[in-house]
Amino acid sequence: MKTYTLITGGSMGFGKALAIECAKMSMNLVLVALPNSGLVELSQFLKKNFNIDVLCYEMDLSKEENCISIYSDLKKNDATIKYLINNAGMLSNGLFEDMNSDYFLTQIKVNVATPTLLSKLFMDDFKANVPSGILNVSSMASFFDLPKKQVYGGTKAYLLSFSSSLRKEIAKYGISVSIVCPGGMNTTSRLCLQNRRLGWISRQSIMNPEEVAKVTLRHFFNGKAFIIPGNVNKLFMLMNRILPQFLKHRLTRNAI
Ligand SMILES: NC(=O)c1ccc[n+]([C@@H]2O[C@H](COP(=O)([O-])OP(=O)(O)OC[C@H]3O[C@@H](n4cnc5c(N)ncnc54)[C@H](OP(=O)(O)O)[C@@H]3O)[C@@H](O)[C@H]2O)c1
Repeated sequence: MKTYTLITGGSMGFGKALAIECAKMSMNLVLVALPNSGLVELSQFLKKNFNIDVLCYEMDLSKEENCISIYSDLKKNDATIKYLINNAGMLSNGLFEDMNSDYFLTQIKVNVATPTLLSKLFMDDFKANVPSGILNVSSMASFFDLPKKQVYGGTKAYLLSFSSSLRKEIAKYGISVSIVCPGGMNTTSRLCLQNRRLGWISRQSIMNPEEVAKVTLRHFFNGKAFIIPGNVNKLFMLMNRILPQFLKHRLTRNAI
């Protein structure tokens, strides 16, 4: 039976950067993204250049039945999951009153329900492959009350709480649970443009997904619970702890 690292949202952005870093470490991969996202081409590239096995599933992870079918198919193929990276996420940046309710209901499924379900489905795999683990991708947005990121921030705050509790529960089996909270990353061209228009202080925190992936995986494989990539983001965390509420309010308002 071959062991794999499953990365959701592996077709582009941070997920793709994580997949390339894992491939460099000769880890077999299971990649999932929506259809026609370039996942097949990426899988072929990784197989050829890193001499690893890569399975890919072009499926909508907002649907519970697709998560279950990925699990069943992996079992049929004698594939077992050692590490799960819950990276797929739907971002958003808009006023709640203007947002389409279908969008945020799907966003809650992809950002909250899917990582929870996948963690549950593969629990026996993790137990059979210790040391093993789950890496959940949250965001700095989970710590701050950011207008225009109300639902997104809420979904990422769920992941923080879920990860810390689950970590305590399953550490006894040798399964590690980590959470990474990146600040802004230049992943899509839309985000690159958006990031350029941010206030000065927020612009200082923007990182490239490749450097975030390197730092994140180093800490994940060392079993670190809580990963904040980048010194500016660490400074934001410190400021969040020590600054008075009115000042934080002003800074977060200016940040958008
Ligand atoms: N970019 C940032 O500034 C930033 C900051 C902090 C945290 N994060 C977090 O980092 C993670 C990755 O972000 P990113 O910027 O790399 O995003 P991205 O470039 O938009 O990539 C998102 C990935 O998730 C996949 N995905 C989305 N919905 C899916 C669905 N229903 N079913 C299957 N796959 C789906 C996408 O697949 P397709 O290619 O098929 O669409 C893509 O591979 C997210 O969890 C995000 O919240 C990002």
